[in-house]
Formats: sequence, C-alpha cells, structure tokens
Amino acid sequence: MRESQADAPRTRVAVVFGGTSSEHGVSCLTAAGVLGALDPEHYEVVGIGITRSGRWITMGSEAIAALQVRDGRLPELSEDATDAVLVRVADGAELAVRQQSALSQMVPVDVAMSLLHGPFGEDGTIQGLFEMMGTRYVGAGVLASAVGMDKHYMKLVLAATGLPVGPFVVITPADWARDRTGRLETVSALAFPVFVKPARGGSSLGISKVDDPTGLEAAVTAAQAYDPKVIVEQGFVGARELECGVLASADGGRPTASEVAEIRVHSVSGFYDFEAKYLPEEQVSLDVPADVAAALAEQVKELAVRTFEALGCEGLARVDVFVTADQQVVVNEINTMPGFTPHSMFPRMWAASGVSYPDLLDRLIRLALDRPVGLR
Ligand SMILES: Nc1ncnc2c1ncn2[C@@H]1O[C@H](COP(=O)(O)OP(=O)(O)O)[C@@H](O)[C@H]1O
Ligand SMILES: [Mg+2]
Repeated sequence: MRESQADAPRTRVAVVFGGTSSEHGVSCLTAAGVLGALDPEHYEVVGIGITRSGRWITMGSEAIAALQVRDGRLPELSEDATDAVLVRVADGAELAVRQQSALSQMVPVDVAMSLLHGPFGEDGTIQGLFEMMGTRYVGAGVLASAVGMDKHYMKLVLAATGLPVGPFVVITPADWARDRTGRLETVSALAFPVFVKPARGGSSLGISKVDDPTGLEAAVTAAQAYDPKVIVEQGFVGARELECGVLASADGGRPTASEVAEIRVHSVSGFYDFEAKYLPEEQVSLDVPADVAAALAEQVKELAVRTFEALGCEGLARVDVFVTADQQVVVNEINTMPGFTPHSMFPRMWAASGVSYPDLLDRLIRLALDRPVGLR
C-alpha cells in the first residue's frame, strides 16, 4: 500500500438527502446509492437526513444503506432522531448535534452534497444556506438551481438566449383567484393535448395529460396540490424523448455532454409518469445510448451544453429534450440535481460515456472543492 495515499486526510462530505418535497423517497434511494459508491479511503461521509417535516438529523452509513424500496414503497426517514444543525465558523461550516438543549460533537465539513430533489433542495434554497455558511457544495448555485427548478423561468431564460422551448401558459394563484375563466380560455388557445404541471415539480408528480378543454380545470387543481404555480404546456404528439448529461470541466473549459439516451414509454398514461420512472421497467424502455443518427445526437449534446451555460449551471445537469415529428429539437426541462441512483439515467449515460458512478462522484466533489466560496 502506498503510504502517502493512506496518510492523506479524507475529505469529509456532508451528504444531504430526504427533504420535505414529494421526492423525499427518491432522494433517500439516491443517498443509499451514493454512499455505496464513495470510496471510504478517500471520503468520510456525514449523512444528514431531512425528514418530511423538515427536521435535520444525522444518519450513519448502515442506516443510509438500508434506504431501499420495500414492498413497492419508497423509503422514508424516521422523525424519531436527534436534531442536527450547521454552524457557521471562521472558515466554513461545522455540523453539530443537539443534545438536550446544548450543541455538541462538532465536525468541520469540507464539502456538502445535496441529493435533495424538488423544492427546498434542488431549487436554490439549500444552496443559499451553503452560501451563507461559506461551505463548498456540489452542483448548481442559487440562481441556476432556482431557474432550473421553475419550468416557467427556465423557459423564459432559454427563449431569451435563443434556445428552443415549446408554447406554454402560466397560472399563478393570483391568476386563478382573479380570473379563472380567462386563464382557462387562454390555455384553450394552445393545441391539445396539453400537459398541466406543477411549475416547480419533479418525478412527474401532479402532471396530467389533457386531451380537451373539459379536463383542464381538474388537471390544474391536481397540479396545484403540488405547487400553487401551474404551467400548461402544448403537448408534442409523437415526439421522441431524449436526455443528455452535462458535466462542468475541471479546467474551466466548455462543459462536456454525455452520450444521449432515449425514453420510450409504453405506460397507460402515455407519458413518462411516476410509475414508469420508479417502478419496475415494464412501462418504459431506456435506451442508453439512444439509437439515433450521429447528427441528431450531436445536436442534442450541443443543445444540452448551451442550456447548461444559459442558466449558469455548475457541476452537473441533465437536459431533457423532445425531438418533434418534424425533427425539431426542443428543450423540455433541465434538472440540476437529476436522479442519481446507480440505475438512474444520468449515471447510466455517463457510464455509457466511460465515466463510472464512483468516478462521477469523485469528479463532482473535486469540482466543488476547487471552486471558491462567495460570488463566482
Ligand atoms: N409538452 C410535452 N409534450 C409531450 N410530453 C410531455 C410534455 N411535457 C411533459 N411530457 C411528458 O411528461 C413527462 C414529465 O414531464 P416533465 O416536464 O419532464 O416533468 P418532471 O419535472 O416531473 O420530470 C415527460 O418525461 C414526458 O414524457
Ligand atoms: Mg422530467
């Protein structure tokens, strides 16, 4: 064994997962996957779970590894645990555990890695906390996370940059309260079917495909259960659904794109819904890499990188596009914290591009350690 490597101090990574969003369980699965892949010789993982009610708790490796699908149900963190808090110190943050009313057992945090999906995690909020704490962290910063999470602002930024997005109408709670009929009429001007979505959702939760105006109101109400702000998008009928992973470059050069993958859905709903995403692969075929012409793959990769740059992303992102029946490539969405279990599309696309799951984690943590804290 090489002495120097064995003696090198391990990087302490605070892995944050769970969370208050509807994607709590998915995030727990990701944590189990990431923990299994971080080399214990190089990394000391401090597990920070966020329960559904928003409490921060610490979790050991074994408890994290046990976060698996059981009897077809996603895992959930127990509320019955000791509270953990991040404390700002001179050169970053330390993790403390509250015992009775005192704080104890402090450990400095070298880098934080949020594996939270959805609002209050992927949307810039926890990134803001890390900024306030002077902690380095993996992935997109506050603005890119917030814009990437919000399907409305994401489209505005992409359109302003000259990148292709589809037609849409936004319904805010104020719009809905003031002029429900007017909003529904505006939406009816889109070509049907339309997709009604929570503006800041994920995992397809709260999304409905609506074939004619009679189904609109119920679909808006269903989306509002996940987010008061709703976006209605014109549906792309017969479009192919492709995805591409993007990673920032260590040398500050242009980000790189992974091989492109295709999602082919056979589910009853006719789209890539929650069941198709997380339950056994009967309703969906995932082709990694996609069986597409080289020129189309190049076009998707270029669009993915330009989308990443348009939002000012850092670290990683997955860009999802539609290829319409007349061969137009249109951005559907960007995920700044894409599904990240070893079986998720992002790691699979990188594996197909020659970057293994552990290497992907190394690269992301290295990128985070190398970047300065504060405004960049
Ligand atoms: N405008 C659209 N046209 C056709 N299919 C769509 C459209 N928007 C969404 N879908 C389908 O619904 C799925 C989920 O939508 P998406 O916007 O990706 O939501 P989420 O952020 O929850 O993943 C997509 O993967 C796709 O199958
Ligand atoms: Mg999606």
